Amino acid sequence: LDAKDADYLISLMRAIPDFPKEGILFRDIMPVFADARGMAILMDALVSNLSIPNDDFDAIAGLEARGFLFGPILAERLGKGFIAVRKAGKLPPPTAKQSYALEYGEATIEIERNAIREGERILIVDDLIATGGSAGAARDLVISCGGVVTGFSFIVELAGLDGIQSLGGYPASSLLTMP
Ligand code: ADE
Repeated sequence: LDAKDADYLISLMRAIPDFPKEGILFRDIMPVFADARGMAILMDALVSNLSIPNDDFDAIAGLEARGFLFGPILAERLGKGFIAVRKAGKLPPPTAKQSYALEYGEATIEIERNAIREGERILIVDDLIATGGSAGAARDLVISCGGVVTGFSFIVELAGLDGIQSLGGYPASSLLTMP
C-alpha cells in the first residue's frame, strides 16, 4: 500500500465522534466498499500484505458484520474457503460460542462446529482491530472447534489500544493505523 493509495483509502473513511457511545471515535469503512477504486486498492493491498504465506493456511474465518464484506472476496482471490463467525443466535446447531468485551459493550460470537476440520489452519480477518476483544474471541472459538489459528489480517488498527499485541504473538497485519 503506497502513500498515495493509503491517503486515498483514508480520504474515503469517515470519523464519527461519540458513536455508538460518547468518547468513541467511530471509523466508518463503508465508503471504501461503495467506491470502485477504493475496493480495488483495498483488495490488492490485503492480498499483498498478508502476515503469512498463502501456503500456511487453508481457510479464512471472517467476523460479522464487516469481516463479511471482504473476507469472502479475499478467500476467493487466494483460493481458500470462507468460514463465517457470527453474532450469537444466527447459526443453526451445533455451534460453539464465545463471549468477549469490546471497545463499547459486550458480545457473544458463534461458529458452526463442523465448519472447521480438525487441524485446519485458519487466517482470521476483520475490518478493524480496537482492543482485540472480538479477534481474540474468534481465535478461541476457532481453537475450540479443533482449528489452528495461523494469523490475522485487518484493514484498520486503532493506535494505542495494543489490540494486535493482545492476540498472543500470532502473525498479524493491518493496512492502516489510525488514532
Ligand atoms: N469497532 C471497535 N471500535 C471501533 C471504532 N472506533 N470504529 C469502528 N469500529 C470499531
